[in-house]
Amino acid sequence: MENTPVTLEILYAMRREGEKIACLTCYDASFTRVLESAGVDMFIIGDSLGMVLLGYAGTAPVTLENMLYHAASVARVGRRCYRVVDLPKGSYDTPGQALANAERLVSEGGAHMVKLEGGVARAAIVEHLANHDIPVCGHIGLLPQSVSQPQDYRVQGRDAASAAAILVDAHALQEAGAGLLVMECIPAGLGGEITAAVSMPTIGIGAGPDCDGQVLVLHDMLGITTGRLPRFVHDFLQDAGSIPAAIAAYVRAVKDGSYPAARHCY
Ligand code: KIV
Repeated sequence: MENTPVTLEILYAMRREGEKIACLTCYDASFTRVLESAGVDMFIIGDSLGMVLLGYAGTAPVTLENMLYHAASVARVGRRCYRVVDLPKGSYDTPGQALANAERLVSEGGAHMVKLEGGVARAAIVEHLANHDIPVCGHIGLLPQSVSQPQDYRVQGRDAASAAAILVDAHALQEAGAGLLVMECIPAGLGGEITAAVSMPTIGIGAGPDCDGQVLVLHDMLGITTGRLPRFVHDFLQDAGSIPAAIAAYVRAVKDGSYPAARHCY
């Protein structure tokens, strides 16, 4: 396994060369070692940790301190993967607050990039961070920080008007200076259309096979999340027999394009 640290430039080169980016969420030191050994390219230290580690029903209660604790645990041992850390809900409501908190995620949490949810509505915040040399990943489509009811976890951009609005979000984030784009729970066709329309790498989670990379919540792809899971989740542990083998199978499936298959797409 190549040990060269994955940089943003390398992620752009992978997009250019058509090599798919294998990304997973990661929240602690032990999994950091396992995921890096299995060839994962990029981590999202996501506020999904509120659900899979902390037992909340959603991501809204997650604090900046929670994010710093887990991001630093990953950064302490991380050697290879590019690390994107979520700004939690309520931590980026004004440009000044976003900058102060993003700087903490970088300096104390070892983030290479911060991620925030929203498109046009967040473009001014993204621009402010980018102007202060904080790399930013946008997140469009389904925005978990805005979900208050379980039934709101649903596919976005199914009709022409909402699909067009998501495309506008993608352009707004790019113009504001975002360096990467996560797209969650949108039709596969729209995922491909946005990937073709922007120049930054796109990472899909339920956004079809034509994104530049894929991400899943680690606990979901290991089959240890309780409750009903969205159709894009695949349990890679079921057939693999061990956690390292499951992660390696995920990396292989993303790279060779067999994940996501049609049954995982909207
Ligand atoms: O919070 C999270 O884990 C995320 C990814 C799954 C995209 O935002």
